[in-house]
Amino acid sequence: MSDTDVLLSVQGLKVHFPIKRGVLLDRTVGYVYAVDGVDLAVRRGETYGLVGESGCGKSTLGRGILRLVEPTGGRVVFDGTDLSTLKGEALRTARRRMQMVFQDPLSSLDPRQSVESLLTEGMAAHGLHTGAGQRHARLRSLLSSVGLPSQALSKYPHEFSGGQRQRIGIARALTVEPDLLVADEPVSALDVSVQAQVVNLMEDLQAELGLTYLVIAHDLAVVRHISDRIGVMYLGGLVERAPAGELYAQPLHPYTRALLSAVPVPDPVVEDRREQILLAGDLPSPANPPSGCRFHTRCPWRQPARCDTERPAFRSVQLAGVSSEHQVACHYAEAVHSGELLPHAVTAQATDPAALDARVVPDRPGSIDEVI
Ligand SMILES: Nc1ncnc2c1ncn2[C@@H]1O[C@H](COP(=O)(O)OP(=O)(O)OP(=O)(O)O)[C@@H](O)[C@H]1O
Ligand code: SF4
Ligand SMILES: [Mg+2]
Repeated sequence: MSDTDVLLSVQGLKVHFPIKRGVLLDRTVGYVYAVDGVDLAVRRGETYGLVGESGCGKSTLGRGILRLVEPTGGRVVFDGTDLSTLKGEALRTARRRMQMVFQDPLSSLDPRQSVESLLTEGMAAHGLHTGAGQRHARLRSLLSSVGLPSQALSKYPHEFSGGQRQRIGIARALTVEPDLLVADEPVSALDVSVQAQVVNLMEDLQAELGLTYLVIAHDLAVVRHISDRIGVMYLGGLVERAPAGELYAQPLHPYTRALLSAVPVPDPVVEDRREQILLAGDLPSPANPPSGCRFHTRCPWRQPARCDTERPAFRSVQLAGVSSEHQVACHYAEAVHSGELLPHAVTAQATDPAALDARVVPDRPGSIDEVI
């Protein structure tokens, strides 16, 4: 992949949250390693799907990319510029080009603001479409591109259905003419029947405006049809990344296989033969991640010693139908793939009670205001 193809490059990104104890919460007793060394590259005009179970750090990664949380380490390079070198106005301008669409449009849209006010705010903040005539024309065209009538301008978020509110959330992100949209679970709060409409809208807008998407989801079914490439995340790190078709056809990481095995297949014959891997236990605490391969406490293919002590690096594998762009962080990917290693039963491990006892500052629901 040449550098000019890449719009967003994330290199070794880390976001660690301090865990505070004491009456005044003044002692740092540890860290939540929410994002702990993520590398990914998103090409111009593509859709990159990021999947992983709840709590694995997807939203924190999205927020770290947009610098809505301050990264602890690593780099985010957007269109050739390292964002950590930018401050003040330069950072604000760069951030205009990257916007976020949130999971729950009701909590991310201020209920006291009319749609017109919600949509005008970002334009005003960035000095776009300043004349009244120009601004109204822009508002009408934005609403029509997300499939809402211009009468919507005088209404308030609670007057809309969930799907319509998400359309407003998307229109709001588009007001400042971004290049990249980070969509954090954009359809998971919506009814299944409405999900497809919003996904189709996002695809149409991408084709029309040449947008690049990073779409975050907790299951592989949602990103399947829209992603060009997919990264699978587990406990703060990526474990597999691949062109979308290859990931579904030949999942190499045991965790990806488990995630895929949870996706039902409409064909009853295939469904009967579908591999079913039930993961034992919950995601371990990111405040106390397992040593070695972070998945070893739940991996049915775990091999003693090496899996417990050595963190696997990303690597390409020499297998038929697997391209060099398909990379996996598992010591035994080939042997798991060939069947040479067979899965074994895994006993669920209890989460470390000391980690649960820690007082972490809870994450706030995403707000669009902070992106502007
Ligand atoms: N501001 C914060 N302070 C402390 N810990 C946090 C903060 N934000 C997130 N975390 C912790 O970081 C971990 C990753 O959280 P994150 O919200 O990024 O996960 P996620 O993959 O988006 O999960 P979900 O699918 O439930 O949205 C969790 O353990 C969470 O409790
Ligand atoms: S490195 Fe070991 S524990 Fe980790 S996914 Fe591979 S086989 Fe499982
Ligand atoms: Mg999240």
